[in-house]
Amino acid sequence: MLATMGALGLAPTAHAADTAAYRAPSPGDFALTGRAAASVVIVGGGVAGLTAAYELGKAGYDCTVLEARDRTGGRNFTVRGGDTTTDTLGQRQTARFSPGQYLNAGPARIAQWMLTMDYCRELGVPVEVFTNSNADAYIFNESAGMTAPVRHRTAKADVYGYVAELLAKATDQGALDAELTAEDRERLLSFLRSYGSIGGRTEGWRYTGGGRRGYAENPGAAGTPGTVLGDVPGVSEVFASGVGRYFSFEFGYDQAMLMFQPVGGMDRIPEALTRAVGARRIRTGAEVTDITGRADGVTVTYRSGGRTRSLTADYCIAALPPNILARTAHNLGSAVQSALEACVPSSAGKIGLEYRSRWWENDHRIYGGITETDMDLAHIWYPSHGFHERRGVIVGYYNTGAAADAYAALAPREREARAVAQGVKIHGEAYRAELASSFSHHWRQTPHLEAAWHSLRGGPDAPVFAPLNEGVGRVYFAGDHLSYAIAWQHGAFASARKVVTRLHARVMS
Ligand code: FAD
Ligand code: ALA
Repeated sequence: MLATMGALGLAPTAHAADTAAYRAPSPGDFALTGRAAASVVIVGGGVAGLTAAYELGKAGYDCTVLEARDRTGGRNFTVRGGDTTTDTLGQRQTARFSPGQYLNAGPARIAQWMLTMDYCRELGVPVEVFTNSNADAYIFNESAGMTAPVRHRTAKADVYGYVAELLAKATDQGALDAELTAEDRERLLSFLRSYGSIGGRTEGWRYTGGGRRGYAENPGAAGTPGTVLGDVPGVSEVFASGVGRYFSFEFGYDQAMLMFQPVGGMDRIPEALTRAVGARRIRTGAEVTDITGRADGVTVTYRSGGRTRSLTADYCIAALPPNILARTAHNLGSAVQSALEACVPSSAGKIGLEYRSRWWENDHRIYGGITETDMDLAHIWYPSHGFHERRGVIVGYYNTGAAADAYAALAPREREARAVAQGVKIHGEAYRAELASSFSHHWRQTPHLEAAWHSLRGGPDAPVFAPLNEGVGRVYFAGDHLSYAIAWQHGAFASARKVVTRLHARVMS
């Protein structure tokens, strides 16, 4: 009967588990089957663990989430005034941000195609545009010899202009005759003229700047056409400055505008998931120390309130970071252990700088977006919300790898001093003078996480990771590391859905 229902699309089938289309388990799935929802212990209350509990809960599964930290959300962490953290080095910080101000220390942006948007819709989390690129933000490559920042729009006009000029000249001189017909050549030349805003054949295809670079004096009423930014650098200077390296970012499938953020902070997502799952199903401050699978169930041991407790369920979903699970006791076998150890943790850090005035809007006319640098602060983010309000929080650095480790090695005060000293080079003294307070966060030093994200050599489908993708006995694994969207909540949502689909199909089979 089940097989027939499966064929009619009325019950999950093995095939259904492998298709991209997701259908949440529902209580109706159990009708006429003589089966019932099972009990599931979920280790880790990040986005993946909460989503697994939420989706299974739709069909009446008896889920319990055990979360080591005193809050759910995992890496989805929004810092507000009064929040306190202690890192693995014992450094304690309390945020002094004003009411309404916040730092998304982990996730901060969402692409339109991501499942994260679907969950925001389903859970009633309002979203607003996140400005991921802004023509009026700056580029400053200090080590390439730049002495002053340049606006994105100016740098882009120069790079595109010279690329167009060079390609147009080469095309017109016949360098591409083996590749192009005469018609193709003319079409390409016509494209390059508009792409780079360059002169035509009679002008030698030259790039000479223009309004795309920006204006020293903006156009106004009749009689004031404005003054186009002059001093167009030469081609050699433009390429030597390295500004061109930042323009491919906006083409990325995951980073292209428009992007979005939840209104009020990224943690509105785990907050909504936590509410939907229900407080009675979630135990925070519960650090799992052992996972033991058996033929008929799984027993999880955890520490809570100074006591050791255990919980037995039909199934377990291990949704904690692989680097942490790798040092947690389990009987899941050496292949699982090897897979966990093959997930390589990465570093990342951010600092939130709260300012008493929004000088970047008032003085620089920058409303959101990102300034790019080759300094170790890497990226500076201007807030995408609260425009024209009195105060605002800038992300003073968002860096990864060795740069993040270098900042992490400093005390919080020294991180602030370094970030501000670098930011002054771009924005002037207001960057120091207007600062009200700061809060920095580093993920390799965050208890129970100790990583920003993980890299999996060969991708999540490399053979070594098969035990994590398949699950072992009654234990399944979830998290963004088991996805093609590592370092994105989309990956955590997708991974959770996959595990839920598999587990439900098994219960139904
Ligand atoms: P986690 O959030 O790591 O959850 C694992 C949970 O397990 C944690 O709550 C942890 O406390 C818990 N745990 C650990 N050990 C135990 C134990 N022994 N017992 C019980 N519980 C335990 N995503 C985006 O969508 N957009 C972005 O812009 C973006 N930017 C990012 C920037 C940074 C700096 C970082 C760090 C991440 C960013 N991400 C972004 C990625 C996003 O945060 C993750 O993909 C997502 O939050 C991962 O969720 P998860 O549930 O898989 O893992
Ligand atoms: N996905 C992360 C970000 O966009 C790394 O910042």
